[in-house]
Amino acid sequence: MKLWAGRFGKETDKLVNDFNSSIGFDKRLYRQDITGSMAHASMLGDCGIISHKEAELIVKTLGEILDDIENGKIEFSIDCEDIHMNIETILTQRIGDAGKKLHTARSRNDQVALDFRMYAMDELKAVRVLLLRLIDVITAKAELHTDTVMPGYTHLQRAQPVTFAHYILAYAEMFKRDVTRINDCLCRMDEMPLGAGALASTTHKIDRENVCRRLGFTRITANSMDSVSDRDFAVEALSDFSLIMTHLSRFSEEIILWCSWEFKFIELDDAYSTGSSIMPQKKNPDVAELVRGKTGRVYGDLTTMLTMLKGIPLAYNKDMQEDKEAFFDAVDTVKICLEVFADMFDTCVVRKDNMRKAASGGFINATDCADYLAKKGVPFRDAYKAVGKLVAHCIECGKYLDQLTVEEFKQFCPAFESDIYEAISLETCVNARDIPGGPGKNSVAAQISANKTFIKEETAL
Ligand code: ARG
Repeated sequence: MKLWAGRFGKETDKLVNDFNSSIGFDKRLYRQDITGSMAHASMLGDCGIISHKEAELIVKTLGEILDDIENGKIEFSIDCEDIHMNIETILTQRIGDAGKKLHTARSRNDQVALDFRMYAMDELKAVRVLLLRLIDVITAKAELHTDTVMPGYTHLQRAQPVTFAHYILAYAEMFKRDVTRINDCLCRMDEMPLGAGALASTTHKIDRENVCRRLGFTRITANSMDSVSDRDFAVEALSDFSLIMTHLSRFSEEIILWCSWEFKFIELDDAYSTGSSIMPQKKNPDVAELVRGKTGRVYGDLTTMLTMLKGIPLAYNKDMQEDKEAFFDAVDTVKICLEVFADMFDTCVVRKDNMRKAASGGFINATDCADYLAKKGVPFRDAYKAVGKLVAHCIECGKYLDQLTVEEFKQFCPAFESDIYEAISLETCVNARDIPGGPGKNSVAAQISANKTFIKEETAL
């Protein structure tokens, strides 16, 4: 018999029963549901709406149910529709009338709003921890490669030399912003909706602040209709997850390129690569490709949530049951991607020599050559033009800039002198860019130390 069967003259159609039921997926919320119910029952006891004895019995039995769920002793029933009614039914089977009092001054609408919010907060915190670990892995790797010169690219064309440390620290910055985005999201999400009831709160003299305190929320929600209708916290979290995936996906693309034979900048550990069933020579970066591929799922989950919300009037509508699978899928995807990516990157081997070779062959120092002239008083635009002609000359005679004689240099601009070689050496090109934010030694050291402070401070939060 349904908990809501009173007004119905017929059993629910079997197909409708299956269609309507969410227990298959919302069972994931069991811990939040029980924690929320414990706080609600205790508050009902504190306010004299039920007796203290009843409240205590409810709380104690909910604790036992929690243990039983965690020990696999409970089988949920599809006939009880969702996690909320499953747990209430089990509670009532165990303690009778006291169990039936738990739902006083509450609706499944504010209950699911609470459970989902608590779940989202727990998972955002878990994602945050994984992000901090990834930032730590990147920072540790950067520390080993402050001297590893490699080409920086624009349009995937060699542009200016940087170091591997500087390159990967760019990703650390993205992941740091992801952490602070989660912090912001958590701040806004930190509101306790219980007490909103079905939509118009309750006539019972409950104490919402009591529940708020018990559950560790900062404040209660301000409007009962908003409380049960709001899922923008989930949209916001999914946007954060989508950006994390965007960053992971871009980084994955670099990894895929870097371990190709064309680049050979890194080699993945055997434990994080896969082979081919037909081509014996292959070692494939499947992990990075899957992370890149799974990014689309998370964008899809965000789109699901936005689309679900866009046309529904206040307050609760059953459409909102569709919020959960999309969210769960995104949480699972982001977590595994962050974890496996960090392990893969941590264990990869960096081919310093190949990076350097790629930075040496070519005209990656052309800007520095123009800057050299500009520092000697040649207007930058003239310097730029002279070096352009120099590069064309080099290409014609199959040489690089540093293979020209001073005389050859002088033919293009009389300001060239013998110190040009020093000025366009890779080391100079990188280390002279030592302003804050640049790839030079001091700047990179500052980035590394800022990351360490960031990780320490954010871990302490
Ligand atoms: N299983 C429902 C959900 O996830 C719980 C809320 C049901 N409320 C209702 N009025 N039918 O959205």
